[in-house]
Amino acid sequence: MEILHCEKVRKVYGSGENQVVALDGIDLSVNRGEFVAILGASGSGKSTLLHILGSVDKPTSGRVVIDGTDLSELDRTQAAIFRRRKVGLVYQFYNLIPTLSVRKNILIPLALDKKKPNPEYFDQIVRSLGITDKLEALPNQLSGGQQQRVAIARSLIYRPALLLADEPSGNLDQKNAKEVVDMLKLSNRNLEQTVLLITHDEKIALETERIITLEDGRIIRDERRR
Ligand SMILES: Nc1ncnc2c1ncn2[C@@H]1O[C@H](COP(=O)(O)OP(=O)(O)OP(=O)(O)O)[C@@H](O)[C@H]1O
Ligand SMILES: [Mg+2]
Repeated sequence: MEILHCEKVRKVYGSGENQVVALDGIDLSVNRGEFVAILGASGSGKSTLLHILGSVDKPTSGRVVIDGTDLSELDRTQAAIFRRRKVGLVYQFYNLIPTLSVRKNILIPLALDKKKPNPEYFDQIVRSLGITDKLEALPNQLSGGQQQRVAIARSLIYRPALLLADEPSGNLDQKNAKEVVDMLKLSNRNLEQTVLLITHDEKIALETERIITLEDGRIIRDERRR
């Protein structure tokens, strides 16, 4: 089942002489349960694409449909709600709230909607991410790798249609970087989570099932490996 559909997505920043075409006609289809890497050099348009898929930003033209919702039809408020419930976003920096416990950080997206977690699902997430014994700690009492696991747990709490990760291991040493990618893999396997992982690192991309290569805002390769 198709979970993500992009048609002729273009993104142009600026105007006149300062114009930058960041995305130049992206057509893309991703099915539920896929683990996909978006690989490309710096400036190839990876983050721009991720922001559009995450409804953080709008394309200049073209269409994006996620889990049956056409993102162009959402106003600002609807886009914010969509972002919270339907996409999980994980960045290089963890963006945890320093004064809240790990448990509360993970539950933020639900708390904003005054919802309570399903206890079994919550346990499953924190157990598979190996942070069960850190739930009452504050973020600054955790290592970088552990903080990133908390950010991943937070992004999964709403069972999003799509988990979008932008260089999630970019700030970590090799061992922790590998672990973060393993965690994404685990969520893909155990929770059938659809994951799009953005990276400029070919070694990391090789951990996924499908590698989409971006160059100058275009898809130049789309390779399924399993
Ligand atoms: N807000 C913006 N205003 C103007 N130009 C921008 C803006 N954001 C990105 N760009 C330009 O769009 C192009 C794509 O940028 P993008 O951030 O998507 O690249 P990237 O592949 O994520 O790179 P990196 O690996 O360095 O993060 C670049 O040429 C960049 O300079
Ligand atoms: Mg980027």
